[in-house]
Amino acid sequence: MNISIFGLGYVGAVSLACLARDGHTVYGVDVDLGKLALIGEGKTPVVEEGMIDLMQQVVASGRVSVTPDVRAAMVNTELSLICVGTPSAANGSQDQSAMLRLARDLGAFMREKSTKHTFVFRSTLVPGTVEEVLRPIMESESGKHDGVDFHLCFQPEFLREGTSIRDYDQPPFTIVGASCPEPVELLRQLFGHLPCQFHRTSIRSAEMVKYSCNDFHALKITFANEMARLCEAMGVDPFEVMDLVCKDTQLNISKAYLRPGFAFGGSCLPKDLRATLYLAKMRDVELPMLGGIMQSNQAHLDHAIRKVMASGKRRIGMIGLSFKTGTDDLRESPMVALAEHFFGKGLSLLVYDPEVNLSKLLGANRRFIEQHLPHIGCLMKNDLEDVMAESDVLVVGLADPKVVDGLQRHLRDDQIVIDLARLPDRGELRGEYLGLCW
Ligand SMILES: NC(=O)c1ccc[n+]([C@@H]2O[C@H](COP(=O)([O-])OP(=O)(O)OC[C@H]3O[C@@H](n4cnc5c(N)ncnc54)[C@H](O)[C@@H]3O)[C@@H](O)[C@H]2O)c1
Repeated sequence: MNISIFGLGYVGAVSLACLARDGHTVYGVDVDLGKLALIGEGKTPVVEEGMIDLMQQVVASGRVSVTPDVRAAMVNTELSLICVGTPSAANGSQDQSAMLRLARDLGAFMREKSTKHTFVFRSTLVPGTVEEVLRPIMESESGKHDGVDFHLCFQPEFLREGTSIRDYDQPPFTIVGASCPEPVELLRQLFGHLPCQFHRTSIRSAEMVKYSCNDFHALKITFANEMARLCEAMGVDPFEVMDLVCKDTQLNISKAYLRPGFAFGGSCLPKDLRATLYLAKMRDVELPMLGGIMQSNQAHLDHAIRKVMASGKRRIGMIGLSFKTGTDDLRESPMVALAEHFFGKGLSLLVYDPEVNLSKLLGANRRFIEQHLPHIGCLMKNDLEDVMAESDVLVVGLADPKVVDGLQRHLRDDQIVIDLARLPDRGELRGEYLGLCW
């Protein structure tokens, strides 16, 4: 393929070298003439393992050209990878000035081009940028249309500086966000041979995935470091602890706990987190990330409260009271916190939970509910149907098959379902459906 690459920093230079190595003809474009001169001489503009030899080899092959001229690069190629920098602005927002300038230039040159062209944005871009910012610029500059005369798509880059050639050849996955199949097929030709899964998604999701991945990486590093500071203060070897933490591939290094849903609660996580934070406080160890968890959990609970209150309805039916499906443990259940809030606001409240039998609750579990919802006896019903019959809004915290079946059979058109549990077959429900964050 004939490919142009705009922006020859870490991402662009490594892509240029690897694509040329794989037999493609590549035109590199940058506004930095120093970088162009280096590449022209077979030298690398970035310090990366393997790049000195690779750049020398691909430039000698004759498959690499460099130019500051956008038009020359576009005329000679059918596909462009756009890899210009998108640094932070002083206020933390994304500085897109280089990208906007380039989009205007690319659009202007697209006006002259009579053949189709595919533009693949590889720079990290805040969600919505391609569709709401770059597409209008390029359509108005070119007088042509995305999806007809040219294609725009977004393919996040996952390489890491220091191991970027290896990461180019073995990425965690290839993700292409596109609104039609043509650019996806072109990218499949280019990257489909890589030993990883290839996913097509919406442009916005592809933009968001990149942020989600980087935020997750930052979170993981910070978690390990906060644990290390606490371990040091406790005289514990942090490597021994974290090595063991990572050996649990069932709960720790796995999909577990990574599905969006309702707030956490129960008899373990909140109390153990509090005890961890107290340990740290007693030893003057700062753990701001762990310290922010309960606050974030409360924000999630408040989000659910706002959704229910925004309905304007006053008869609330709660389905599920325990902290997760399949248990009668009510201790620190966020569903109990929700019920407390609705009750405190004077709303009419009924509750159904197939696992919770008030007469069988014992010990700390009974004490917790007596303290937080002393009127629980009057609120709980044994039948889902009874709760549904007398409610305008159903707040569903259980994805239990019996609950799903009951909702499908008895829900009325005038009722609202606020789903905290991501119910299966939610599209088939009558009434108005509102997911917690979906
Ligand atoms: N560095 C990484 O490891 C990495 C990994 C994944 C994603 N990303 C993302 O990829 C993008 C590029 O990152 P980078 O580290 O390679 O950036 P970089 O700052 O090293 O390079 C960007 C290049 O773009 C050039 N440029 C600016 N305006 C231009 C224009 N109008 N035309 C042509 N070239 C222009 C600059 O001169 C510079 O050489 C960023 O959005 C970044 O967030 C970076």
